Amino acid sequence: MAHKRLPRFALEYLEGGAEDEAALLGERRAFADWRFLPRTLVDVSGRTLATSILGQSAAMPLVASPTGLNGILHAHGDCLLAQASQQADIPFVQSTMSNDTMEEVARAAPGVRHWWQLYVFGGDEIWQELLRRAERAGCEALVLTTNAQIFGDREWQRRNQIGNARLSASAALESLTHPLWFAENPLSLGLPKFANIIDFVPKDQRSFFAASNWVRAHQPTSLSWDTVAKIRQRWNKPFILKGILCPDDVRRALDSGADGIVLSSHGGRQLDWTVAPLDLLPVAREIVGEKIALYMSGGVRRGTDLLKACALGADAVWVGRALLYGLCAAGAAGAARALAIIKAEALDAMGLLGANRIEELGPHLLAHAGRVA
Ligand SMILES: Cc1cc2nc3c(=O)[nH]c(=O)nc-3n(C[C@H](O)[C@H](O)[C@H](O)COP(=O)(O)O)c2cc1C
Repeated sequence: MAHKRLPRFALEYLEGGAEDEAALLGERRAFADWRFLPRTLVDVSGRTLATSILGQSAAMPLVASPTGLNGILHAHGDCLLAQASQQADIPFVQSTMSNDTMEEVARAAPGVRHWWQLYVFGGDEIWQELLRRAERAGCEALVLTTNAQIFGDREWQRRNQIGNARLSASAALESLTHPLWFAENPLSLGLPKFANIIDFVPKDQRSFFAASNWVRAHQPTSLSWDTVAKIRQRWNKPFILKGILCPDDVRRALDSGADGIVLSSHGGRQLDWTVAPLDLLPVAREIVGEKIALYMSGGVRRGTDLLKACALGADAVWVGRALLYGLCAAGAAGAARALAIIKAEALDAMGLLGANRIEELGPHLLAHAGRVA
């Protein structure tokens, strides 16, 4: 349904990765390489996916991962994803590059576990102001994305844009052939705004693509563990680092004051040819023990993926595209449906695996590349 509804440039934005898309494909392949060793004849009549995320109960070990530009996928996509997350009783992470303001999201989905994802750009006063606003808007946790200070080379983008400010004529014309999408985003009215950060962008750069490119160009490549320490000092609630993909950095994160980390390659959209976050999980779990929360993000499409990640050591998976497909297809109801599908699949698969609770999952239920020890 999403494929039918979206114009080419928006669909490529949703699905694409960087360069050869090797990291993107590798994330799915990593899931395929792990096979289940199911236990049978186990009473699984009392099974539940209920768990705790950052010390609070959640219906399943899943977090709605931050995604920018949701407004081009569906009008008010951020509010709708937050509503679907609230209904499903899981946290929703809002991106710095979202299109609805954080205050609008808080109003649209009262009671949602609302987390704010920070991209550092421009001077320190910008992130400091965003943190103050997130605090006032009731955000429960802060997520610093660490692996996107240099923008991944997404070649499809060059096909769809002219210079850094406009859609190419062919991409604009093609979008006319998607009436449902076009009705929400008439090109004459312009594309949605980056509502949370647009005031920081120079006035002559505030159109959709120009603003997005301006922010990218002003993300300091000096971002470092020193910046992490400065941000940690200013934020008193839970703090999570997203974009860790190396055992040494997992170790380093333990001393950074972070309450959790997300192993992630940004959905294969940044550095290409990275290891799959799933494959790093066992080592990362060994390093963090129970000291901080350990999450993974990348390639989760089905309930069985969620179970594999939890069995390899994740406290929860952070899901991007699988929810976005639902959002594009049918707004909040579509995102809620995507979550319901993953949940139903995971619950049945857990039963077929012979487990009743997420905590019962472990590497003993998996064989790599089908090899049984
Ligand atoms: C369309 C799209 C936009 C994204 N925007 C952001 C973002 O603004 N901030 C961020 O930290 N991660 C962003 N990501 C990465 C996601 O949070 C997540 O890590 C990734 O999508 C996981 O892979 P999956 O899509 O296979 O679930 C984005 C991913 C996609 C697909």
